[in-house]
Amino acid sequence: MPASATPPPPSSSGTPGGSPVLELRALTRTHGSGVAEVHALRGVHLSVHPGELVAVMGPSGSGKSTLLTLAGGLDTATSGQVVIEGQDIAALGPKGMAALRRRSVGYVFQDYNLIPALTAAENIALPRELDGVSVRKARKEALAALAEMRLEEIADRFPDEMSGGQQQRVAIARA
Ligand SMILES: Nc1ncnc2c1ncn2[C@@H]1O[C@H](COP(=O)(O)OP(=O)(O)OP(=O)(O)O)[C@@H](O)[C@H]1O
Ligand SMILES: [Mg+2]
Repeated sequence: MPASATPPPPSSSGTPGGSPVLELRALTRTHGSGVAEVHALRGVHLSVHPGELVAVMGPSGSGKSTLLTLAGGLDTATSGQVVIEGQDIAALGPKGMAALRRRSVGYVFQDYNLIPALTAAENIALPRELDGVSVRKARKEALAALAEMRLEEIADRFPDEMSGGQQQRVAIARA
C-alpha cells in the first residue's frame, strides 16, 4: 500500500513555532516502469517545525524509507518538492546538496551504512573533515559524540568488529 497523506491541517495552538524546517509538497516517487511500476509515495504533504518530533509509521513496504530518503536529499522525487530550511532542494546543484546534507541533515540509515574501512571515530569525523574542520578537531568531536553514546571503548574499532547495536549507535553519533 503506498504511503500517502492529505494536505496538513491549519497549524493549531499546540504546534511548535517558527517556519517549517522541512516541508514536503505533493511528493511522489515511482520506482521502475510499466508492469513493474511501484508507487512508493503518492502526493505526500508534510510540514515539520523547529522542536517538533515526528514519527512516520506504516507497514513494511509502505514507503517510510523512500520518504526519509527524499526528505534527506539522498534521492530525487518523481514529482513534488522538498523544502529544507525554506530552500527548495531541487534548486541546489550536487555541491549545494552535499553541503546541505553535511550541515543540516542527520541521517541514520536502516542498515547503518558505516564505511567498512574506517573506524568508529573516523566514520564520525569524516563528514566534518569534508566540511573543512581540522582532522584534530573532528577527532575530538567524534570522541565526544562516541562518549555520549557510551562507546568510547570502541572508538578505534572497524564496523565488522562491532555488534549490530554498537553499529547503530555509531550511526546515531555520526548523524
Ligand atoms: N529501488 C527500488 N526499486 C523498486 N521498488 C522499490 C525500490 N525501493 C523501494 N521500492 C518499493 O517501494 C515501496 C516502498 O519501499 P520502502 O523501502 O520505502 O518501504 P518501508 O516503508 O521503508 O519498508 P520497511 O518497513 O520494510 O523498511 C515498496 O513497495 C518497495 O518494494
Ligand atoms: Mg524502510
